[in-house]
Amino acid sequence: MQSCVIFVEKIPARATWALRQSVLRPGQALERVQYPEDSHPGAFHWGAFVLDEAKYHISAFKNIKESKLDPKLVGIASIYAEPPVLRGASIDRADEVKIGWRLRGMAVDPTFRNRNVGAILLNTLYAYVLTTSKSGIWCNGRSTVAPYYRGMGFKVIGDEFDMPGIGPHYVMVNPDPDPIRYARKFKGGKLIAAPEHFFNQNNPSMMLR
Ligand SMILES: CC(C)(COP(=O)(O)OP(=O)(O)OC[C@H]1O[C@@H](n2cnc3c(N)ncnc32)[C@H](O)[C@@H]1OP(=O)(O)O)[C@@H](O)C(=O)NCCC(=O)NCCS
Repeated sequence: MQSCVIFVEKIPARATWALRQSVLRPGQALERVQYPEDSHPGAFHWGAFVLDEAKYHISAFKNIKESKLDPKLVGIASIYAEPPVLRGASIDRADEVKIGWRLRGMAVDPTFRNRNVGAILLNTLYAYVLTTSKSGIWCNGRSTVAPYYRGMGFKVIGDEFDMPGIGPHYVMVNPDPDPIRYARKFKGGKLIAAPEHFFNQNNPSMMLR
């Protein structure tokens, strides 16, 4: 696979639906991935885009959004201002008070997996929620992905439960998301300086090889 540049930007909810459908609900109707909460004021959606490295160099001094380079959306994740639903599990009260964001709809295009796309998305969310008063994150994580979330600072609480039509899940919480701690995960990638007019300075951008 070619070298590419990855960058993360906030995107509208509708931009997440196709990848949500193909990765998280294959074969199911698009309506199933259009969550009612998507358009709430406390909902934020991020997309990880990749751009061929050669095109990146060509575009470095142009406004890429006005160019026809068409970066490809390869990863998505959303957060919602929503208190945790613990399903009877107990957690430290101090942790519970901190948790005010729900992670949903995290998905990476299968052809771009294991290249830090998920990690860079989560770190972007961590950096974002750390600027809010309710900085902790919870999710209903698929059991198959629980080890991945654990590696990104979440812990499982309570018992496994079934989500109809999807499968086994755990409630997972990350009361103290820490983008610095997980920056170490970006092995094999190189952080790059990016043209201000293209990348949001607060978001990470990297070269993936
Ligand atoms: C989970 C997911 C988002 C990870 O994205 P990614 O971009 O491939 O992940 P990263 O590149 O950041 O991390 C890759 C590392 O995580 C590990 N990893 C990936 N998925 C894993 C899993 N399910 N369990 C344990 N480890 C996992 C890889 O082995 C790799 O390990 P290494 O760094 O030691 O080599 C992606 O696999 C995915 O979209 N899965 C399907 C959708 C899904 O189930 N989403 C969660 C809904 S709750």
